Amino acid sequence: MKGLFITFEGPDGSGKTSVATAVCQKLDEMGYGVVHTREPGGIAISEDIRNIILDPKNTMMDAKTEALLYAASRRQHLVEKVFPAIEEGKIVICERFLDSSLAYQGYGRQLGFDEVLSINLFATDNVYPDMTIYLDVDEEIGLARLSDRAFKDRLDQESIDFHHRVSQGYKEVLRRFADRITIVDASKTKEEVIEASLAEILKLINDKTTA
Ligand code: TMP
Repeated sequence: MKGLFITFEGPDGSGKTSVATAVCQKLDEMGYGVVHTREPGGIAISEDIRNIILDPKNTMMDAKTEALLYAASRRQHLVEKVFPAIEEGKIVICERFLDSSLAYQGYGRQLGFDEVLSINLFATDNVYPDMTIYLDVDEEIGLARLSDRAFKDRLDQESIDFHHRVSQGYKEVLRRFADRITIVDASKTKEEVIEASLAEILKLINDKTTA
């Protein structure tokens, strides 16, 4: 049986990494085969592309170049890691996927939702996640959570207006893809967010096995 492709989305500081890590550990303890990965990155080529995109010295990077690099990194990660794991029946849990490009490049960089969607569907062979968990937190609260990080990457240095536009982009993502996206209130405690996310994933696994 084929596996599942589940993504976590949300603004910077919404807790994707800690929630995904805890959820993967719990699924692993329950005996599921789980692959935890992230975008941009997850494999050597895509981590190299990540370093180029996020390097603070790349101030000259054009918005379309940035969008294409995210899509290129996504393509390689899918082909090398995600697709094979799904074929093996694994549950792939990925922090960020094409919804991030729609929000950050489509709205944040103002390249347009449908323009960014079209280069991404080329990159993904029209594949969407089976389910996306959106960790919902106000973007200003998310940024405040990250404010004591010593290293600020190129995206972290963006203006608050950029992050407000990203938030509008996510609203559009939620509207367009309501059937695949589950919203979890990420302003709650970490334990509550982990439990709510895990419950959604277990429901999906159950629906799939009883279908
Ligand atoms: P991360 O900090 O969640 O690992 O992501 C790195 C940054 O890259 C984050 O600010 C969001 C941004 N990003 C995009 O702008 N577009 C994308 O498609 C992805 C995957 C991430």
